[in-house]
Amino acid sequence: MTRTTYYTATTLDGFLADPDDSLAWLMRQDLDEHGPQNYAEFIARIGALVMGSTTYEWVLAHLAETGEPWYYPQPTWVMTSRELPVLAGADVRFAHGDVTEVHEHLRAAADGKDVWVVGGGDLAGQFADAGLLDEVIVSIAPVVLGAGRPLLPRRMDLRLAETARNGAFVTARYEVDGPLKEDRPTLGG
Ligand SMILES: NC(=O)c1ccc[n+]([C@@H]2O[C@H](COP(=O)([O-])OP(=O)(O)OC[C@H]3O[C@@H](n4cnc5c(N)ncnc54)[C@H](OP(=O)(O)O)[C@@H]3O)[C@@H](O)[C@H]2O)c1
Repeated sequence: MTRTTYYTATTLDGFLADPDDSLAWLMRQDLDEHGPQNYAEFIARIGALVMGSTTYEWVLAHLAETGEPWYYPQPTWVMTSRELPVLAGADVRFAHGDVTEVHEHLRAAADGKDVWVVGGGDLAGQFADAGLLDEVIVSIAPVVLGAGRPLLPRRMDLRLAETARNGAFVTARYEVDGPLKEDRPTLGG
């Protein structure tokens, strides 16, 4: 069955990126690419991706800087209200609005494999709000930033399923439980 997973790196204080979208603090960390929660094993289970436009524009800028080609063979949806460029050979589709309909397309394209919510945090929150987020997998870098792009700006309960260490990172996998228990309506008012 297709699972929808938010897989990302974060600072210890819960930021995906600097306020100016820099990931310099992340790129310099020690990481074992064969270690726990490694990217190669994760991407092998993924059939479709979705990301917000800030993340997409970061990827485009990074590829332009390094000269690498588009690196996701899977169909990729970008959530945006704007018109954005697409690199040659990239299977990129644009969508906006309610993520429920987009999720139907993602699941169909994934064809039994899993869906990766790449980020950012509010987009992962939109899937969680719709009850469509199953899992959160984070690699926690030994960095605090004090400000930046938030990991998951919602009130939610999660269940810790796995932990490990990979290089400088604490890795953790959580199953999504749902809205914070304190926020859920109680029977009988
Ligand atoms: N640490 C990591 O491993 C990691 C992972 C992922 C991302 N990142 C970084 O974290 C930062 C995330 O940026 P962010 O928080 O701004 O999030 P984002 O999700 O990448 O981009 C947010 C933008 O996406 C568009 N969008 C989102 N949902 C939409 C919807 N339902 N309909 C239409 N448009 C929608 C909106 O822009 P428009 O409508 O104006 O286009 C919105 O401002 C980026 O710098 C990224 O590179 C880091």
